[in-house]
Amino acid sequence: MSELWYKNAVFYEVYVRAFFDSNGDGHGDLKGLMQKLDYLKDLGVDCIWLLPIYPSPLRDDGYDIADYYSILPTYGALEDFCELLDAVHARGMRLITDLVLNHTSDQHPWFQSARSSRQSPYRDYYVWSDTDQKYRETRIIFLDTEKSNWTWDEVAGQYYWHRFYSSQPDLNYDNPAVQEEMRNVMRFWLDLGVDGFRADAVPYLFEREGTNCENLPETHEYLKSLRRFMDEHYPGRILLCEANQWPEDVLPYFGDGDEFHMGFHFPVMPRIFKALREGRADSLVDILKRTPEIPENCQWCTFLRNHDELTLEMVSEEDRQWMWREYAPHPRMRLNLGIRRRLAPLLDNDRRKISLAYSLLFTLPGSPIIYYGDEIGMGDNIWLEDRNGVRTPMQWTNAPNGGFSSASPEKLYAPVIDDPQFSPERVNVTDQLNDPQSLLNVLRRMIATRKAQSVLGKGKLQWAQIPTPLPSLVAFHRVDEIESILALHNLSAQSQPVSVSVLPQTTVLHDLLTGENFTPADGMISLILQPYDYRWLKEIR
Ligand code: GLC
Repeated sequence: MSELWYKNAVFYEVYVRAFFDSNGDGHGDLKGLMQKLDYLKDLGVDCIWLLPIYPSPLRDDGYDIADYYSILPTYGALEDFCELLDAVHARGMRLITDLVLNHTSDQHPWFQSARSSRQSPYRDYYVWSDTDQKYRETRIIFLDTEKSNWTWDEVAGQYYWHRFYSSQPDLNYDNPAVQEEMRNVMRFWLDLGVDGFRADAVPYLFEREGTNCENLPETHEYLKSLRRFMDEHYPGRILLCEANQWPEDVLPYFGDGDEFHMGFHFPVMPRIFKALREGRADSLVDILKRTPEIPENCQWCTFLRNHDELTLEMVSEEDRQWMWREYAPHPRMRLNLGIRRRLAPLLDNDRRKISLAYSLLFTLPGSPIIYYGDEIGMGDNIWLEDRNGVRTPMQWTNAPNGGFSSASPEKLYAPVIDDPQFSPERVNVTDQLNDPQSLLNVLRRMIATRKAQSVLGKGKLQWAQIPTPLPSLVAFHRVDEIESILALHNLSAQSQPVSVSVLPQTTVLHDLLTGENFTPADGMISLILQPYDYRWLKEIR
């Protein structure tokens, strides 16, 4: 069973640069993270996901890797990484790293060699063309900066293919040597002891004329070979898939339980925000109904926010406009097809809405992932470039720099949030730890409760029967062979009387968060939900 640990795990996404600066240079580092592991353990985190930590010119914050086998010097050295890993494991936690398969940095020696000559052994590591007219059905992802997926390289005398920034040339997976290189990269980190990978941007590995170059059979075949390699040599480690796609297109990434262990559920995320703003459950319910069953040994990974813009790729054009109007009224809040804001500001810094969103995250199917800082309701800075406004220093205390670093403020990699509503004086870990009612403590209790109820990790979703439908009510059971939990969420700003059917033979409903008990009558439970209220009711038989 323990090989399925990820099915009932709570994940936490760490941006090392932002987390804690141990040496006062203004940048967070691995040693700094190490000092904060007890905090993560106390929060209830089971598995840490580290954003890229490798040497990089940082044109895409480390997703442009220049060396797959070492650590960005400002973050530390490989020894620090190994020490961190030991410290994580000693606390019974796990750690996964980012595996960037699709592209390298243009500063990577492979690319430097490849562009220098057609005879270079690395030429064929990348995708070259004499024209920029190939693969024209392929969309551009970084719409605000890139005009084409092809960029002319003066040195090479050809165009090269890139799905992201032009400083991130795509690797050529038709070349067996590339396939082998990336397996070696995996082996290196797995041998060091990482518990798996969050595999970046996997839909785009192969290109084929006449397709949109996403989710191709060749891509799945290669990914399956990586899984076989992991199963054979490193059982119990996981592959988490970043495929920003519709649920039915993510499904093949689980294969028959022989491709990815986990996959992010992208479409559900914006719909949580939509549902909350509209006070209506339908869009959320619709996407969950559209979400297929996945193999028994697989799990969705759900999230509210991450280090990127809140992506609106997986919504209709109409919904995208609606989301932008509602959640990104200022042009600076928009980026590509998304919104560069953090959770708390998006939800008007309204504790009720933020807690409700987390409650959905912790009760819906999937293992939840928390983005650093969102557990204390950190703010954002829309005036920073790219996605940097949601990557500002973690706010530990109300001291200068939010206790993140002892450097002088102008030496920090990014300014600490200074919006008075979200500045460290108002929002910081230490104060929240001391306040039993703080968001942080509410979340800790939710996490502990969730982890004590394995049905929330492994159970199926079953929609609750509501005799008089209420558009603002999200009501479902999580059910396995032995037990069930009825989760109720009131999306509206009004209090609502609700009546919902309980599952057969339920004698008492025990509220896991408040300790209250309710007795059903005629197979129904009736109660009043306060504005943005939520209930986790264990159905006792
Ligand atoms: C993923 C990452 C994003 C990065 C992109 C290119 O989408 O989440 O931050 O820019 O891949 O590597």
